[in-house]
Amino acid sequence: MNTVKINGDFMTPLKFYLITDTHYFNAELGAEGKAYEEYMKTEAFYLKESSEINKAVFKKLKEDTETDLIIIPGDLSKDGEYKSHKALIEELDALKDEGKKIFVITAGHDYNEHGRSYKNDELVKVRGTTLAELYDLYFEFGYKDALSVDKETLSYIAEIAENTRLLALNCDSKRETKGTIDERLLNWAKEQIDKAKEDNAYIIAMCHYPIIPSVPVFDLVGDAHVKNWREIATFLADNGVELVLTGHMHIQSINEFVTEKGNRLVDICTSTTVGTPGKYRKIEIDENGKMDVKSIPVCDFTFPDKFKSEEEFLDWRFDYSVKNKINKILEGGSGITKTLKNFGGKILNSIKLKTIAKLLFIRIDSSLKDVKLIDFAGEIGTAIFKGDQPFTQGTPEYEAVLKALNRFGFILKKVEPKLSKNGVKVDLKAMILNTIGNNKGYSDNDTTINLKG
Ligand SMILES: [Fe+2]
Ligand SMILES: [Fe+2]
Repeated sequence: MNTVKINGDFMTPLKFYLITDTHYFNAELGAEGKAYEEYMKTEAFYLKESSEINKAVFKKLKEDTETDLIIIPGDLSKDGEYKSHKALIEELDALKDEGKKIFVITAGHDYNEHGRSYKNDELVKVRGTTLAELYDLYFEFGYKDALSVDKETLSYIAEIAENTRLLALNCDSKRETKGTIDERLLNWAKEQIDKAKEDNAYIIAMCHYPIIPSVPVFDLVGDAHVKNWREIATFLADNGVELVLTGHMHIQSINEFVTEKGNRLVDICTSTTVGTPGKYRKIEIDENGKMDVKSIPVCDFTFPDKFKSEEEFLDWRFDYSVKNKINKILEGGSGITKTLKNFGGKILNSIKLKTIAKLLFIRIDSSLKDVKLIDFAGEIGTAIFKGDQPFTQGTPEYEAVLKALNRFGFILKKVEPKLSKNGVKVDLKAMILNTIGNNKGYSDNDTTINLKG
Protein backbone atom coordinates (compact mmCIF):
# COMPACT_ATOMS: atom_id res chain seq x y z
CA MET A 1 0.00 0.00 0.00
CA ASN A 2 1.06 3.58 -0.65
CA THR A 3 2.72 5.42 2.20
CA VAL A 4 3.11 9.19 2.25
CA LYS A 5 4.92 11.79 4.28
CA ILE A 6 2.76 14.11 6.39
CA ASN A 7 4.33 16.65 8.74
CA GLY A 8 7.42 14.45 8.89
CA ASP A 9 5.41 11.33 9.69
CA PHE A 10 4.39 8.56 7.36
CA MET A 11 0.86 7.35 6.92
CA THR A 12 -1.24 5.17 4.71
CA PRO A 13 -4.47 6.34 3.07
CA LEU A 14 -7.15 5.32 5.52
CA LYS A 15 -10.87 4.62 5.36
CA PHE A 16 -12.90 3.74 8.45
CA TYR A 17 -16.26 3.91 10.20
CA LEU A 18 -16.51 5.73 13.49
CA ILE A 19 -19.44 4.71 15.67
CA THR A 20 -19.69 5.42 19.35
CA ASP A 21 -21.81 5.24 22.49
CA THR A 22 -23.73 2.22 21.23
CA HIS A 23 -25.12 1.74 24.76
CA TYR A 24 -26.10 -1.76 23.70
CA PHE A 25 -28.79 -3.31 25.88
CA ASN A 26 -29.74 -6.94 25.64
CA ALA A 27 -33.54 -6.72 25.63
CA GLU A 28 -33.74 -10.35 26.86
CA LEU A 29 -32.72 -9.00 30.27
CA GLY A 30 -36.11 -7.32 30.50
CA ALA A 31 -37.35 -3.89 29.50
CA GLU A 32 -41.01 -3.70 30.40
CA GLY A 33 -43.41 -2.86 33.21
CA LYS A 34 -44.09 0.09 35.48
CA ALA A 35 -40.51 0.52 36.74
CA TYR A 36 -39.28 0.60 33.14
CA GLU A 37 -41.93 3.12 32.05
CA GLU A 38 -41.04 5.31 35.03
CA TYR A 39 -37.30 5.12 34.26
CA MET A 40 -37.86 5.95 30.60
CA LYS A 41 -39.67 9.17 31.48
CA THR A 42 -36.29 10.80 32.06
CA GLU A 43 -33.96 8.66 29.91
CA ALA A 44 -32.89 10.53 26.76
CA PHE A 45 -31.83 7.39 24.88
CA TYR A 46 -33.59 4.20 23.84
CA LEU A 47 -33.02 1.08 25.86
CA LYS A 48 -35.42 -1.68 24.78
CA GLU A 49 -34.85 -0.71 21.13
CA SER A 50 -31.06 -0.36 21.51
CA SER A 51 -30.04 -3.75 20.11
CA GLU A 52 -32.30 -3.38 17.07
CA ILE A 53 -31.02 0.13 16.28
CA ASN A 54 -27.38 -0.97 16.62
CA LYS A 55 -27.99 -4.09 14.54
CA ALA A 56 -29.34 -1.85 11.77
CA VAL A 57 -26.05 0.11 11.87
CA PHE A 58 -23.92 -3.04 11.87
CA LYS A 59 -25.89 -4.32 8.86
CA LYS A 60 -24.96 -1.15 6.95
CA LEU A 61 -21.29 -1.53 7.91
CA LYS A 62 -21.36 -5.13 6.73
CA GLU A 63 -22.80 -4.09 3.38
CA ASP A 64 -19.87 -1.72 2.72
CA THR A 65 -17.36 -4.30 1.60
CA GLU A 66 -14.75 -1.66 0.78
CA THR A 67 -14.35 -0.35 4.32
CA ASP A 68 -12.86 -2.85 6.74
CA LEU A 69 -11.94 -0.71 9.69
CA ILE A 70 -14.38 0.19 12.52
CA ILE A 71 -13.46 2.37 15.50
CA ILE A 72 -15.71 2.61 18.60
CA PRO A 73 -14.64 5.06 21.36
CA GLY A 74 -16.60 3.69 24.33
CA ASP A 75 -19.86 3.40 26.25
CA LEU A 76 -20.41 0.14 24.45
CA SER A 77 -23.15 -1.18 26.76
CA LYS A 78 -26.14 0.49 28.39
CA ASP A 79 -24.80 0.28 31.93
CA GLY A 80 -22.30 -2.59 32.06
CA GLU A 81 -24.79 -5.49 32.06
CA TYR A 82 -22.70 -8.61 31.36
CA LYS A 83 -25.33 -10.04 29.00
CA SER A 84 -25.43 -6.76 27.03
CA HIS A 85 -21.67 -7.00 26.49
CA LYS A 86 -22.01 -10.64 25.44
CA ALA A 87 -24.77 -9.81 22.94
CA LEU A 88 -22.79 -6.89 21.50
CA ILE A 89 -19.67 -9.05 21.20
CA GLU A 90 -21.70 -11.58 19.21
CA GLU A 91 -22.51 -8.76 16.77
CA LEU A 92 -18.86 -7.64 16.64
CA ASP A 93 -17.74 -11.25 16.11
CA ALA A 94 -20.11 -11.50 13.14
CA LEU A 95 -18.57 -8.34 11.67
CA LYS A 96 -15.10 -9.75 12.26
CA ASP A 97 -16.11 -12.91 10.42
CA GLU A 98 -16.97 -10.66 7.47
CA GLY A 99 -13.38 -9.38 7.51
CA LYS A 100 -13.86 -6.21 9.58
CA LYS A 101 -11.12 -5.03 11.93
CA ILE A 102 -12.69 -3.47 15.03
CA PHE A 103 -10.95 -1.36 17.65
CA VAL A 104 -12.86 -0.34 20.77
CA ILE A 105 -12.12 1.46 23.97
CA THR A 106 -14.24 0.92 27.06
CA ALA A 107 -15.75 3.67 29.20
CA GLY A 108 -17.76 4.44 32.32
CA HIS A 109 -20.97 2.76 31.12
CA ASP A 110 -19.11 -0.48 30.44
CA TYR A 111 -18.02 -1.48 33.94
CA ASN A 112 -20.64 -1.64 36.60
CA GLU A 113 -20.87 -4.31 39.30
CA HIS A 114 -24.65 -3.94 39.45
CA GLY A 115 -26.40 -3.94 36.11
CA ARG A 116 -30.13 -3.30 35.95
CA SER A 117 -33.09 -4.56 34.01
CA TYR A 118 -36.85 -4.16 34.28
CA LYS A 119 -39.28 -7.04 34.78
CA ASN A 120 -42.79 -7.43 36.21
CA ASP A 121 -43.03 -3.74 37.10
CA GLU A 122 -39.82 -3.99 39.16
CA LEU A 123 -36.24 -2.88 38.76
CA VAL A 124 -34.11 -6.04 38.84
CA LYS A 125 -30.39 -6.32 39.56
CA VAL A 126 -28.52 -8.28 36.91
CA ARG A 127 -24.90 -9.40 36.61
CA GLY A 128 -22.65 -6.45 35.90
CA THR A 129 -19.09 -6.37 34.55
CA THR A 130 -15.80 -5.38 36.17
CA LEU A 131 -13.06 -3.40 34.44
CA ALA A 132 -10.77 -6.45 34.57
CA GLU A 133 -13.39 -8.53 32.75
CA LEU A 134 -13.59 -5.97 29.93
CA TYR A 135 -10.01 -6.76 28.92
CA ASP A 136 -10.91 -10.39 28.28
CA LEU A 137 -14.32 -9.64 26.80
CA TYR A 138 -12.96 -7.20 24.21
CA PHE A 139 -9.56 -8.88 23.74
CA GLU A 140 -10.25 -9.49 20.05
CA PHE A 141 -11.17 -5.85 19.46
CA GLY A 142 -7.97 -3.96 20.20
CA TYR A 143 -5.92 -5.63 22.92
CA LYS A 144 -5.02 -8.70 20.86
CA ASP A 145 -3.28 -6.54 18.23
CA ALA A 146 -1.86 -4.04 20.72
CA LEU A 147 1.83 -3.18 20.63
CA SER A 148 1.49 -2.05 24.25
CA VAL A 149 -1.34 -2.09 26.81
CA ASP A 150 -1.61 0.02 29.94
CA LYS A 151 -3.42 -2.57 32.05
CA GLU A 152 -4.32 -0.11 34.79
CA THR A 153 -6.60 1.92 32.50
CA LEU A 154 -7.02 -0.49 29.55
CA SER A 155 -5.41 2.05 27.24
CA TYR A 156 -3.51 0.59 24.32
CA ILE A 157 -1.77 1.34 21.05
CA ALA A 158 -2.26 -0.83 17.99
CA GLU A 159 -1.34 -0.80 14.33
CA ILE A 160 -4.61 -0.26 12.43
CA ALA A 161 -3.08 0.03 8.97
CA GLU A 162 0.40 -0.02 7.52
CA ASN A 163 2.45 2.64 9.34
CA THR A 164 -0.67 3.92 11.13
CA ARG A 165 -1.31 3.43 14.84
CA LEU A 166 -4.34 4.04 17.02
CA LEU A 167 -3.50 5.45 20.44
CA ALA A 168 -6.51 4.48 22.57
CA LEU A 169 -6.37 6.59 25.72
CA ASN A 170 -8.80 5.41 28.38
CA CYS A 171 -9.71 8.37 30.58
CA ASP A 172 -12.82 6.69 31.99
CA SER A 173 -11.63 3.57 33.79
CA LYS A 174 -12.44 4.62 37.38
CA ARG A 175 -15.53 6.35 38.75
CA GLU A 176 -13.47 8.63 41.00
CA THR A 177 -11.19 9.85 38.21
CA LYS A 178 -13.52 9.84 35.22
CA GLY A 179 -12.36 12.13 32.46
CA THR A 180 -8.76 12.13 33.70
CA ILE A 181 -5.60 11.45 31.74
CA ASP A 182 -3.06 11.59 34.56
CA GLU A 183 0.68 12.07 34.44
CA ARG A 184 1.39 8.34 34.60
CA LEU A 185 -0.85 7.69 31.57
CA LEU A 186 0.66 10.68 29.74
CA ASN A 187 4.15 9.23 30.31
CA TRP A 188 3.00 5.89 28.90
CA ALA A 189 1.45 7.74 25.92
CA LYS A 190 4.67 9.71 25.35
CA GLU A 191 6.66 6.44 25.23
CA GLN A 192 4.23 5.06 22.63
CA ILE A 193 4.36 8.24 20.55
CA ASP A 194 8.18 8.28 20.62
CA LYS A 195 8.29 4.64 19.60
CA ALA A 196 5.86 5.30 16.75
CA LYS A 197 8.04 8.18 15.55
CA GLU A 198 11.11 5.91 15.59
CA ASP A 199 9.14 3.47 13.44
CA ASN A 200 7.90 6.25 11.12
CA ALA A 201 4.30 5.46 12.04
CA TYR A 202 1.49 8.02 11.97
CA ILE A 203 -0.72 8.23 15.07
CA ILE A 204 -4.45 8.80 15.40
CA ALA A 205 -5.80 9.04 18.95
CA MET A 206 -9.08 7.83 20.43
CA CYS A 207 -10.50 8.84 23.79
CA HIS A 208 -14.02 8.45 25.19
CA TYR A 209 -14.29 11.99 26.55
CA PRO A 210 -13.92 14.88 24.11
CA ILE A 211 -10.51 16.48 24.46
CA ILE A 212 -11.79 19.83 23.15
CA PRO A 213 -15.17 21.03 24.50
CA SER A 214 -17.76 20.18 21.82
CA VAL A 215 -19.43 23.61 22.01
CA PRO A 216 -18.06 26.69 23.81
CA VAL A 217 -20.36 26.49 26.87
CA PHE A 218 -19.25 22.91 27.52
CA ASP A 219 -15.90 24.39 28.57
CA LEU A 220 -17.75 25.29 31.80
CA VAL A 221 -19.13 21.77 32.32
CA GLY A 222 -16.62 19.57 34.14
CA ASP A 223 -17.85 16.23 32.80
CA ALA A 224 -18.11 17.41 29.18
CA HIS A 225 -14.39 17.08 28.35
CA VAL A 226 -11.19 15.58 29.75
CA LYS A 227 -9.83 17.33 32.83
CA ASN A 228 -7.14 19.93 32.01
CA TRP A 229 -8.20 19.71 28.40
CA ARG A 230 -5.89 22.46 27.13
CA GLU A 231 -2.91 20.68 28.64
CA ILE A 232 -3.90 17.32 27.12
CA ALA A 233 -4.70 18.87 23.71
CA THR A 234 -1.33 20.65 23.79
CA PHE A 235 0.46 17.42 24.71
CA LEU A 236 -1.11 15.56 21.81
CA ALA A 237 -0.74 18.30 19.18
CA ASP A 238 2.84 19.20 20.15
CA ASN A 239 3.76 15.52 19.95
CA GLY A 240 2.46 15.31 16.39
CA VAL A 241 -1.00 13.83 17.01
CA GLU A 242 -3.37 15.72 14.70
CA LEU A 243 -6.61 13.82 15.11
CA VAL A 244 -8.56 12.43 18.06
CA LEU A 245 -11.85 10.50 17.83
CA THR A 246 -14.21 10.92 20.78
CA GLY A 247 -17.75 10.33 22.10
CA HIS A 248 -19.39 10.55 25.54
CA MET A 249 -21.33 13.77 24.95
CA HIS A 250 -23.65 12.19 22.35
CA ILE A 251 -23.10 15.22 20.15
CA GLN A 252 -22.06 15.83 16.56
CA SER A 253 -19.14 18.22 16.73
CA ILE A 254 -15.78 18.82 15.12
CA ASN A 255 -13.35 21.21 16.80
CA GLU A 256 -9.82 22.44 16.36
CA PHE A 257 -7.32 23.56 18.98
CA VAL A 258 -4.06 25.28 18.06
CA THR A 259 -1.21 25.24 20.57
CA GLU A 260 1.12 28.14 21.36
CA LYS A 261 3.69 26.42 19.15
CA GLY A 262 1.18 26.47 16.28
CA ASN A 263 0.35 22.76 16.23
CA ARG A 264 -3.25 21.77 15.68
CA LEU A 265 -5.43 19.02 17.11
CA VAL A 266 -8.76 18.12 15.47
CA ASP A 267 -11.35 16.44 17.72
CA ILE A 268 -14.19 14.57 16.02
CA CYS A 269 -16.90 13.88 18.58
CA THR A 270 -19.75 11.68 17.42
CA SER A 271 -23.29 11.07 18.63
CA THR A 272 -24.75 7.95 20.19
CA THR A 273 -26.46 5.48 17.90
CA VAL A 274 -29.46 5.00 20.23
CA GLY A 275 -30.84 8.51 20.49
CA THR A 276 -30.84 11.87 18.83
CA PRO A 277 -28.94 12.89 16.73
CA GLY A 278 -28.38 9.19 15.88
CA LYS A 279 -25.42 9.50 13.54
CA TYR A 280 -22.23 7.61 12.81
CA ARG A 281 -19.38 8.64 10.53
CA LYS A 282 -17.41 7.43 7.56
CA ILE A 283 -13.97 9.01 7.43
CA GLU A 284 -11.53 8.84 4.55
CA ILE A 285 -8.00 10.24 4.63
CA ASP A 286 -6.22 10.33 1.30
CA GLU A 287 -2.52 10.21 0.42
CA ASN A 288 -2.25 14.00 0.76
CA GLY A 289 -3.73 14.07 4.27
CA LYS A 290 -7.10 15.36 3.06
CA MET A 291 -9.72 14.03 5.45
CA ASP A 292 -13.34 13.70 4.33
CA VAL A 293 -15.87 13.26 7.12
CA LYS A 294 -19.39 12.09 6.28
CA SER A 295 -22.14 11.63 8.82
CA ILE A 296 -24.70 8.91 8.26
CA PRO A 297 -28.05 8.69 10.07
CA VAL A 298 -28.91 5.42 11.80
CA CYS A 299 -31.86 4.06 9.84
CA ASP A 300 -33.86 1.05 8.74
CA PHE A 301 -35.00 -0.06 12.16
CA THR A 302 -38.60 -0.51 13.25
CA PHE A 303 -40.26 2.39 15.05
CA PRO A 304 -43.89 3.05 16.07
CA ASP A 305 -46.32 4.17 13.38
CA LYS A 306 -47.07 7.49 15.05
CA PHE A 307 -43.62 8.77 14.02
CA LYS A 308 -42.86 9.84 10.45
CA SER A 309 -39.21 8.82 10.45
CA GLU A 310 -36.37 7.35 12.50
CA GLU A 311 -35.14 10.91 13.11
CA GLU A 312 -38.48 12.03 14.55
CA PHE A 313 -38.56 8.92 16.76
CA LEU A 314 -35.05 9.64 18.12
CA ASP A 315 -35.76 13.36 18.61
CA TRP A 316 -38.99 12.66 20.49
CA ARG A 317 -37.28 10.69 23.25
CA PHE A 318 -34.78 13.48 23.93
CA ASP A 319 -37.44 16.18 23.98
CA TYR A 320 -39.83 14.13 26.14
CA SER A 321 -37.19 13.11 28.69
CA VAL A 322 -35.66 16.58 29.05
CA LYS A 323 -39.08 18.16 29.69
CA ASN A 324 -39.88 15.45 32.25
CA LYS A 325 -36.50 15.97 33.94
CA ILE A 326 -37.12 19.70 34.28
CA ASN A 327 -40.63 19.12 35.64
CA LYS A 328 -39.29 16.55 38.13
CA ILE A 329 -36.86 19.13 39.48
CA LEU A 330 -39.79 21.51 39.87
CA GLU A 331 -41.92 18.93 41.74
CA GLY A 332 -41.97 18.22 45.47
CA GLY A 333 -40.57 20.21 48.35
CA SER A 334 -42.68 21.65 51.14
CA GLY A 335 -43.93 25.01 52.36
CA ILE A 336 -42.54 28.01 50.52
CA THR A 337 -40.18 25.83 48.44
CA LYS A 338 -43.14 23.84 47.13
CA THR A 339 -45.07 27.02 46.30
CA LEU A 340 -42.08 28.54 44.49
CA LYS A 341 -41.38 25.31 42.60
CA ASN A 342 -45.04 25.00 41.54
CA PHE A 343 -45.07 28.60 40.39
CA GLY A 344 -41.77 28.15 38.51
CA GLY A 345 -43.08 24.99 36.85
CA LYS A 346 -46.28 26.70 35.71
CA ILE A 347 -44.36 29.65 34.27
CA LEU A 348 -41.82 27.47 32.48
CA ASN A 349 -44.47 25.24 30.92
CA SER A 350 -46.81 28.00 29.81
CA ILE A 351 -44.94 31.29 29.43
CA LYS A 352 -44.53 32.51 25.87
CA LEU A 353 -41.58 34.41 24.50
CA LYS A 354 -43.71 37.52 23.93
CA THR A 355 -44.30 37.76 27.70
CA ILE A 356 -40.60 37.44 28.44
CA ALA A 357 -39.82 40.02 25.76
CA LYS A 358 -42.27 42.42 27.43
CA LEU A 359 -40.72 41.84 30.86
CA LEU A 360 -37.23 42.50 29.48
CA PHE A 361 -38.31 45.46 27.31
CA ILE A 362 -36.96 43.86 24.15
CA ARG A 363 -38.44 43.38 20.69
CA ILE A 364 -38.44 39.90 19.18
CA ASP A 365 -39.42 38.65 15.73
CA SER A 366 -43.15 37.99 15.31
CA SER A 367 -42.44 34.34 14.40
CA LEU A 368 -41.24 33.74 17.97
CA LYS A 369 -43.94 35.57 19.91
CA ASP A 370 -46.27 32.64 20.50
CA VAL A 371 -43.51 30.10 21.07
CA LYS A 372 -43.42 28.73 24.61
CA LEU A 373 -40.15 29.19 26.51
CA ILE A 374 -39.88 25.44 27.17
CA ASP A 375 -40.28 24.64 23.45
CA PHE A 376 -37.75 27.33 22.49
CA ALA A 377 -35.21 25.94 24.95
CA GLY A 378 -35.93 22.40 23.71
CA GLU A 379 -35.40 23.40 20.07
CA ILE A 380 -32.08 25.07 20.84
CA GLY A 381 -30.97 22.13 23.01
CA THR A 382 -31.71 19.54 20.32
CA ALA A 383 -29.98 21.70 17.69
CA ILE A 384 -26.81 21.90 19.82
CA PHE A 385 -26.48 18.10 19.87
CA LYS A 386 -27.12 17.78 16.12
CA GLY A 387 -24.20 20.08 15.28
CA ASP A 388 -24.21 22.80 12.59
CA GLN A 389 -26.29 24.87 15.01
CA PRO A 390 -28.46 27.07 12.78
CA PHE A 391 -29.11 30.03 15.08
CA THR A 392 -26.42 32.32 13.72
CA GLN A 393 -26.39 36.12 13.48
CA GLY A 394 -29.46 37.42 11.64
CA THR A 395 -31.80 34.61 12.64
CA PRO A 396 -34.76 35.58 14.89
CA GLU A 397 -33.55 33.13 17.56
CA TYR A 398 -30.00 34.59 17.65
CA GLU A 399 -31.32 38.14 17.84
CA ALA A 400 -33.74 37.25 20.67
CA VAL A 401 -31.01 35.53 22.70
CA LEU A 402 -28.57 38.40 22.03
CA LYS A 403 -31.07 41.00 23.23
CA ALA A 404 -31.86 38.98 26.36
CA LEU A 405 -28.15 38.53 27.10
CA ASN A 406 -27.59 42.27 26.69
CA ARG A 407 -30.32 42.87 29.28
CA PHE A 408 -28.44 40.61 31.71
CA GLY A 409 -25.05 42.06 30.78
CA PHE A 410 -24.32 43.38 34.26
CA ILE A 411 -24.97 39.94 35.81
CA LEU A 412 -22.79 38.19 33.23
CA LYS A 413 -19.92 40.57 33.98
CA LYS A 414 -20.19 39.70 37.68
CA VAL A 415 -20.25 35.96 37.05
CA GLU A 416 -17.50 35.78 34.41
CA PRO A 417 -14.48 36.35 36.71
CA LYS A 418 -15.71 33.53 38.97
CA LEU A 419 -15.83 31.14 35.99
CA SER A 420 -12.39 32.07 34.65
CA LYS A 421 -9.69 29.48 35.37
CA ASN A 422 -5.92 29.27 34.80
CA GLY A 423 -5.84 32.78 33.37
CA VAL A 424 -8.33 31.92 30.60
CA LYS A 425 -11.00 34.64 30.55
CA VAL A 426 -14.63 33.69 30.07
CA ASP A 427 -16.89 35.73 27.77
CA LEU A 428 -20.32 34.26 28.48
CA LYS A 429 -22.14 36.19 25.77
CA ALA A 430 -19.79 35.01 23.03
CA MET A 431 -19.80 31.49 24.47
CA ILE A 432 -23.60 31.24 24.38
CA LEU A 433 -23.96 32.81 20.94
CA ASN A 434 -21.25 30.57 19.46
CA THR A 435 -22.98 27.58 21.03
CA ILE A 436 -26.41 28.21 19.47
CA GLY A 437 -24.94 29.15 16.07
CA ASN A 438 -22.02 27.35 14.39
CA ASN A 439 -19.58 30.13 13.45
CA LYS A 440 -16.56 27.88 12.91
CA GLY A 441 -16.64 28.11 9.13
CA TYR A 442 -17.04 24.37 8.61
CA SER A 443 -19.70 21.74 9.29
CA ASP A 444 -19.86 19.50 12.35
CA ASN A 445 -21.35 16.76 10.22
CA ASP A 446 -19.92 16.68 6.72
CA THR A 447 -16.65 18.40 6.17
CA THR A 448 -13.20 18.20 4.63
CA ILE A 449 -10.14 19.02 6.71
CA ASN A 450 -6.52 18.98 5.66
CA LEU A 451 -4.62 17.18 8.38
CA LYS A 452 -1.46 18.93 7.21
CA GLY A 453 -3.08 22.03 8.78
FE1 LIG B 1 -22.52 7.61 26.35
FE1 LIG C 1 -19.69 8.39 28.55
